[in-house]
Amino acid sequence: MTLRLGVNIDHVATIRNARGASYPEPVRAAELALAAGADGITAHLREDRRHISDGDIDQLSELCRKRGRPLNLEMAVTDEMVAIALRHRPHAACLVPERREEVTTEGGLDVVRGHNAVKAATSALRAAGSRVSLFIDADAEQIRASAEAGAQVVELHTGAYCDAARAGEAERAATILERLRAGAAQAHDLGLEVHAGHGIDYATVTPIAAIPQLAELNIGHFLIGEAIFVGLPEAMRRMRQLMNAARAAAEQAA
Ligand code: PXP
Repeated sequence: MTLRLGVNIDHVATIRNARGASYPEPVRAAELALAAGADGITAHLREDRRHISDGDIDQLSELCRKRGRPLNLEMAVTDEMVAIALRHRPHAACLVPERREEVTTEGGLDVVRGHNAVKAATSALRAAGSRVSLFIDADAEQIRASAEAGAQVVELHTGAYCDAARAGEAERAATILERLRAGAAQAHDLGLEVHAGHGIDYATVTPIAAIPQLAELNIGHFLIGEAIFVGLPEAMRRMRQLMNAARAAAEQAA
């Protein structure tokens, strides 16, 4: 199975919004990413609209529809966001936890405690034709609850692994990686498609991409940052190369 690369373009909007200007435009980054072979575009419409705006979602929806490529809308489990998603009917809706004070999405969705709300949102979104993904930590109970809530996909949060690996905390990183491996296997056995994302860069992508059950990685901040220096197509090309090499090596070792 080749590993898909979803490109998250949120932080193009972060740069635009830093000046309250109309550029750089996330839709232009999405167009470039698709032309450079992205398997899909991911955008997170946050409640506080700190980066992606409602207008961006209109433009990204239109672009992805025109190009026949998937849009993955990341969203909190709120009535407002569900209503927006039902209007746009994106290919995929990824339900994420959201706290106003956080800098980025810290930790996964608590599907166990929020089961009823997650299940209701999942069934509404599925009825509108979206594939529903739940962004969770690689935790056995959360994975089981995700399947019970009716999601087709789980996206495993790789942020803690990437932080530990980058900090040189090898033992902690190895423990978290093992949890990600076990979680991917469990989710796959339950019939869920398995994605992963958050915090991935060139230095951390290899062991993640080698997890055989993963079908898709969603990567944003690092790719957009790297694009400043080498351009988005080159940053994506290098990331894809590392992903493919990791997958090929893992398949050969199996
Ligand atoms: N996947 C999900 C569900 C996310 O919330 C994010 C961050 O918006 C990402 C992937 C991408 O993370 P990063 O920007 O750190 O690559």
